[in-house]
Amino acid sequence: MDCPKKSFLFMISCIILLLNYNNGGFVHATTNIGLNYGLLGDNLPPPSQVINLYKSLGITSIRIFDTNTDVLNAFRGNRDIGVIVGVKNEDLAALAVSENAVNTWFMTNIEPYLADVNITFITVGNEVIPGDIGPHVLPVMQSLTNLVKSRSLPILISTTVAMTNLGQSYPPSSGEFTSQAREQLVPVLKFLSQTTTPILVNIYPYFAYASDPSNILLDYAIFNTDAVVVQDGPLGYSNMFDVIFDAFVWAMEKEGVKDLPMVVSETGWPSAGNGNLTTPEIASIYNGNFVKHVGSGKGTPKRPNSSIHGFLFATFNENQKPAGTEQNFGLYYPTDLKPIYKLF
Ligand SMILES: *[C@@H]1O[C@H](CO)[C@@H](O)[C@H](O)[C@H]1NC(C)=O
Ligand SMILES: *[C@@H]1O[C@H](CO)[C@@H](O)[C@H](O)[C@H]1NC(C)=O
Ligand SMILES: *[C@@H]1O[C@H](CO)[C@@H](O)[C@H](O)[C@H]1NC(C)=O
Repeated sequence: MDCPKKSFLFMISCIILLLNYNNGGFVHATTNIGLNYGLLGDNLPPPSQVINLYKSLGITSIRIFDTNTDVLNAFRGNRDIGVIVGVKNEDLAALAVSENAVNTWFMTNIEPYLADVNITFITVGNEVIPGDIGPHVLPVMQSLTNLVKSRSLPILISTTVAMTNLGQSYPPSSGEFTSQAREQLVPVLKFLSQTTTPILVNIYPYFAYASDPSNILLDYAIFNTDAVVVQDGPLGYSNMFDVIFDAFVWAMEKEGVKDLPMVVSETGWPSAGNGNLTTPEIASIYNGNFVKHVGSGKGTPKRPNSSIHGFLFATFNENQKPAGTEQNFGLYYPTDLKPIYKLF
């Protein structure tokens, strides 16, 4: 979510239940929970302090959006924390031209940290598929994959995609990709399938809810009910996150991509910026329940035996993002590292 979010509308028919904020309890970080570490603020603490925060929370996976030198230098020697780094969207066109260009990028941006930093994934672009530069993703992924394989490096090569790839998402079993996604995403998914490398997906029930708050049940959007709200054949859903996740699984299956793991590279809920839909209380319930969902080890109704790995967006409120909700996804205030609400 480096760029403004497009809101996407899920056609969801709903029952309105009473709002029920009874679930903001204490939750512990689990090893399947990571945090996004966005850097679009002019008041962020130095990376060394941020690493201490992660250690105090027991967070062992983080994601940055590029290969920021200050951050990666600070991670030297902290190999117990896995770091997802990214190829910047604006670099993709030049890198797609040749394997040599990619090798040079790697020598400059990754090689210097290999010995000291636990780089787990390189994401090739953030939410560029579907879109104008989407076609550059696959060639860059292929070059990077060749490179890490030839050197037996334990780094996975993937990309992060938004749910704008879904043309249909409700009910989950009718999930299918848009025609542009079919052109740009499906070849990427087939490539990832060859090595069972996860696709990284950004899933934001908040944007679906905010696009139609009078018709979508808040408790369903924030995992705050155990009641089945959506029945899809034999599968019952009580939360919107699982519906969106499984719609993507169904859409992949319809393209012949079965059993490809999905990692949730971003999810979250803003604590301000859109009136009473974005309060610290609601954000705390959503994020706290997401942590519990992941910590339960349970998957989604369609993939009940695959536990979810996910990264909350984001560590800090970022004041250089567009005004409004975009600046308010953080769990912590950047200036004093105090929590905006209790989560971990
Ligand atoms: C690197 O990070 C991953 C993900 O957090 C973790 O599973 C792995 O144990 C870490 N590697 C080392 C050497 O600690
Ligand atoms: C927000 O306020 C409106 C108008 O008072 C109300 O109808 C709605 O239920 C409120 N939503 C939440 C999530 O509190
Ligand atoms: C999940 O695991 C259970 C118990 O091993 C098994 O019966 C079931 O078929 C599995 N479900 C799926 C969708 O793989």
